[in-house]
Amino acid sequence: MPIRILRAETYPILIGEDIFDEIQVHLREPERKDSKFILMVDENTRNLCLPLLLEKLEQFRECTVIEIPSGEDRKNIQTCVEIWQNLIDLKADKDSVLVNIGGGVLTDIAGFIAATYKRGIRYINFPTTLVGQIDAAFGGKVGVNLSDLKNQIGVFANPDAVCIYTPFLKTLSARDKLSGFAEVVKYALIMDQHFWKLLRNVNFVQIKFWDDIIYRSVEIKNRIVKNDPLDKRLRKRLNFGHTLGHAFETIALQRKDKSMTHGSGVAMGIICETFLSCKMKGLSWEILEEIASYILQNFPYYTLEDDDVDKILEILVHDKKNSGDQINFTLIPSLGHALIDQYCEPEDILSCLQFYRELD
Ligand SMILES: NC(=O)c1ccc[n+]([C@@H]2O[C@H](COP(=O)([O-])OP(=O)(O)OC[C@H]3O[C@@H](n4cnc5c(N)ncnc54)[C@H](O)[C@@H]3O)[C@@H](O)[C@H]2O)c1
Repeated sequence: MPIRILRAETYPILIGEDIFDEIQVHLREPERKDSKFILMVDENTRNLCLPLLLEKLEQFRECTVIEIPSGEDRKNIQTCVEIWQNLIDLKADKDSVLVNIGGGVLTDIAGFIAATYKRGIRYINFPTTLVGQIDAAFGGKVGVNLSDLKNQIGVFANPDAVCIYTPFLKTLSARDKLSGFAEVVKYALIMDQHFWKLLRNVNFVQIKFWDDIIYRSVEIKNRIVKNDPLDKRLRKRLNFGHTLGHAFETIALQRKDKSMTHGSGVAMGIICETFLSCKMKGLSWEILEEIASYILQNFPYYTLEDDDVDKILEILVHDKKNSGDQINFTLIPSLGHALIDQYCEPEDILSCLQFYRELD
């Protein structure tokens, strides 16, 4: 695919296989041309992605590389302390630029490092997973977890540029790719019914048009974020599927069951929240059938035990997306539209979980 360029709030998002000429132009701009670039990788992206990048961008060959261990459990403040120290040892100054090459874990940590080191230095993201390319690498949210609470410490800080080189995905595992695909389904359902109609005719394993999927997904999230960069209102549309999805993930985590990815939790959450959309907002039941059967064809079904249902209600009450004791959802009254802050009673939630359990 030739290069496609989107404009985010303050930075460009370059997408495709042929993005490197444009990146060269960007790197030669006056405010960057004398900067020291420091490359941030994890052990997987060092082996699988960095060589591809160095082939295309020769000027990075002499740069220092800092490796962050991969894994969600390393996305914490201790990892940051080590990297801040590393930057001090390297005498990185205010004009240094971090070049972050990795999935959402790496770009969340490295973006946070950039936002805080010497009160903020610039950074460029090269996302290498589907989650990174369509979601984590742009939009300005960066940060880390605190014990087992996700993304509790962080700031909004925009990158200088986001460079989405789609061939990086060739080495990504099917499991990690499927995890990102749940967000693609979500974008279609909340913002673009034509995109949904395109997706529903093709299963995940048959998809050949990934570059188009990535572009459309980035376009949708970018449009939402531009209208509400600080997540005060409209950006909450992106929470569709995530309120119950997060509860599913927490249940799996409590069982020490590592089989569930964030995306498969979100996919199950989409089924439940589509049910709530029918019950509360008049979405048609045929659409629920269509969405549920598509998700079950593509994502692993997660079985809930009897006592999980009460646990889920308890988890929802503590969800950081709620205000007070109310449990709020983003719901879709029709395909391609989303309503934020929709309050649901516990019995409605129980009925959606009942529906979900009967799909087994
Ligand atoms: N900031 C945001 O707006 C935002 C949005 C969504 C998700 N996130 C965060 O993103 C994180 C999840 O990101 P993720 O799903 O990308 O997981 P990840 O970053 O953990 O990457 C998954 C695995 O794939 C490996 N990998 C990366 N690129 C690869 C490639 N091209 N080939 C082979 N292996 C590769 C990584 O080393 C890792 O082992 C979570 O921490 C989540 O909170 C942030």
